[in-house]
Amino acid sequence: MEEALLSELVAHDEITNSFEFAQHLNKSHQELASAISSLSMDEFIIAEHREQLVPELTDKGKEFVREGSPEVIVYNYVLNNPGVSQAQIQTTLGEVGKFGFSQAMKNKWIGIDKETKLVNVTVDHVDDTVKLQLEAFQRNEEVKIDELRKRKLIDNVKRSYFVIRKGPNFAPHRQKPEAELTYDMVRTGNWKTTTFKEYNFNAKGKYPAGGHLHPLLKVRAQVRNILLDMGFEEMPTNTFVVSSFWNFDALFQPQAHPARDAHDTFFIKSPEFANDFEDDYRQRVQEVHERGGYESIGFRYKWSIDDARKNVLRTHTTANSSKMLYKLAQNGFKPKKYFSIDRVFRNETLDATHLAEFHQIEGVVADRNIGLADLIGIIAEFFRRMGITDIKFKPAYNPYTEPSMEIFGYHPILKKWTEIGNSGVFRPEMLRPMGLPEDVNVLGWGLSLERPTMIQYSIGNIRDLFGSKLELSGIQSNPICRFKTDE
Ligand code: PHE
Repeated sequence: MEEALLSELVAHDEITNSFEFAQHLNKSHQELASAISSLSMDEFIIAEHREQLVPELTDKGKEFVREGSPEVIVYNYVLNNPGVSQAQIQTTLGEVGKFGFSQAMKNKWIGIDKETKLVNVTVDHVDDTVKLQLEAFQRNEEVKIDELRKRKLIDNVKRSYFVIRKGPNFAPHRQKPEAELTYDMVRTGNWKTTTFKEYNFNAKGKYPAGGHLHPLLKVRAQVRNILLDMGFEEMPTNTFVVSSFWNFDALFQPQAHPARDAHDTFFIKSPEFANDFEDDYRQRVQEVHERGGYESIGFRYKWSIDDARKNVLRTHTTANSSKMLYKLAQNGFKPKKYFSIDRVFRNETLDATHLAEFHQIEGVVADRNIGLADLIGIIAEFFRRMGITDIKFKPAYNPYTEPSMEIFGYHPILKKWTEIGNSGVFRPEMLRPMGLPEDVNVLGWGLSLERPTMIQYSIGNIRDLFGSKLELSGIQSNPICRFKTDE
């Protein structure tokens, strides 16, 4: 169709009526119209839309063509039923009988006997000229249509058509650009000479029917990328249950510390106790708690192995960091940058910003001759990559770090400084019993994944983000996470 249209324009420069051209091709105008629209889109042609009034068969006209004209139907009926009554004709043939009777009478094809009132044919043979004329009209032959119009067999209808001329990109042939790179093109090398369809970067794409990522997962992926880019390795964190030993004791957190209370920590009933630490290390931890060492005087209390063996749902991912640092010391120290992003549990009073479980992002840097300035630099860089550039540090207290700092970020929407993390330089009382060399320092920081996610997605209540009350439609429609940075 496209080819026919283009070669017609090569020959005649213009197609004055696309409708007639379609008829000439023996195709429907609709089919031609789609070729016209595709060719004009690429400016191969210029098509002007026009309308015209043209005579066309009415429904009644079409019925005449199908069934024959009523006068012929009546003639044939009378021919086959000589001496029939006028009433009989009408009851048998209905409407057609009524119109056909008077027309056949007018044509003098039939006649009524004056005395008997019976109807008989008056000629041997008739031609269905009306039907023949209508058929000739359909074949576009010259036909006098006035009479047919009067009988409402033909009437004017509005018809759309196009006047078509060559466009600025006209060419006698159009190669449709390929939409896909196929196996064959690669195999034969045809792809080198093939024209491909341009990418449409504005296309919205297909909306996925299922499998939507939760905002926390999207932000987690972004944060993970940032840390991987900064050269951090991910720590294994697939243990929600750990002994108090790794969660607290290894971190030089005394056994009487209030955070180790059931008010703050979830203890496991079954199995209640763990055996996930080695005895010589246990001894060094016990020693540093009870009597100190490494220039520390310790806490001076009776350390209990039973308390250390109590299983808990980890209250922070630092429980895993402590295991990793112990392993690092055991396997021969090498400088390391570790991170993890995973779930932690606290026996909190639930409110708009607190849940009993949340996610922590944690970073740990172990190297020789590093200190607070490095920690501040790394944290600043990490938050800068998350789009947070206004940060402040405030001295704080952690059992396992000294010095410790809370991190504050300026919240551009709330227009105030808000806490965004906690950090510090791990204490020798924690690192030395593990067996880490004296000149090795370890820096760490942690923050919740929920806080940046709520800011990123403008979620005010944590229960709209996590748990049984959140709206699934929100999960389906929320956009991908992209931190706003200057880069
Ligand atoms: N564990 C701390 C918290 O839960 C975060 C932290 C990690 C602090 C490492 C210092 C060093 O808030």
